[in-house]
Amino acid sequence: MTPRPIIIDTDPGQDDAVAILLALASPEELEVRAITTVAGNVPLALTTVNALKMVELAGRTEVPVYAGCDGPLHGALITAEYVHGRSGLDGATLPEPVTAVAAGHAVDAIVEIVTSAPPGTITLCPLGPLTNVATALDREPRMAAMLREIVLMGGGFFEGGNTTPTAEFNIYVDPEAADVVFRCGAPITVLPLDVTHRALILPRHLERFAALGTRVGEAVHGLLTFYERYDVAKYGMAGGPLHDPCVIAYLLKPELFRGKLVGVEIETESPLTRGMTVVDWWGMTSGPRNATWIREVDAEGFFDLLVGRLAAIG
Ligand code: BDR
Ligand code: CA
Repeated sequence: MTPRPIIIDTDPGQDDAVAILLALASPEELEVRAITTVAGNVPLALTTVNALKMVELAGRTEVPVYAGCDGPLHGALITAEYVHGRSGLDGATLPEPVTAVAAGHAVDAIVEIVTSAPPGTITLCPLGPLTNVATALDREPRMAAMLREIVLMGGGFFEGGNTTPTAEFNIYVDPEAADVVFRCGAPITVLPLDVTHRALILPRHLERFAALGTRVGEAVHGLLTFYERYDVAKYGMAGGPLHDPCVIAYLLKPELFRGKLVGVEIETESPLTRGMTVVDWWGMTSGPRNATWIREVDAEGFFDLLVGRLAAIG
């Protein structure tokens, strides 16, 4: 099987970091053409350093890391140090990277990779605010029709929001960018809070990462132990939701997930619900069905996949 070429657009963040590791640990199925960074969980300089740390931890420094947009299309950047810590990757001691960031802007890299590949081959995997992706779609209008698919983590409908009552973080940080992406016409699959809140990191999962006995296992155990304390305290959950790795797991084993093709629109105006992903789950309108909205996951199968793949690296 030829590996599926992907671009990971990301704002690491512990859960982004684990998603990157999962993708890099799956070379038979996924060819990571580039990692592009965006401001989100922490400012751009940190998300970029954090992505470089992950390619080094995985021993995959040939994968280029491009730095992208340092703030949303409009307004000021909102960050989430209250979840991820000051570095974005608090919880593990990782050496400063020696690998250099790739020359050029992430937006140009996305456009170049997608437009120089055969049409319908590249999958974009956004794990953070959609600023880079929207800017690329705007810069090269042919891009949407050339993509195979966009598979992203963002939004929430049945679960509400995690940043405002109605908005999830990635969409809330840059609703105008999300609006561009959801209107672009490319096939879209969404891994929203509705599914990631079922992929909870439980103590037995943490033990499995530690038991790997590798640098990767130790790092993931430390990162996720730190990361999940916020959601457990804030929401009273049994464990922290492992959001972003759901995107990569969906590419590797879609049979672990269930969802439905629906219409999704982004609220950009209302001060009360700005950043909301409005999902027409019951087909109440005649608008376009522009996204597959995932709601269910086999959580044990997801963690089995993750632990199994991470066992193979580091
Ligand atoms: C999303 O926001 C970030 O904090 C996480 O990395 C994830 O992408 C969850 O709302
Ligand atoms: Ca993220």
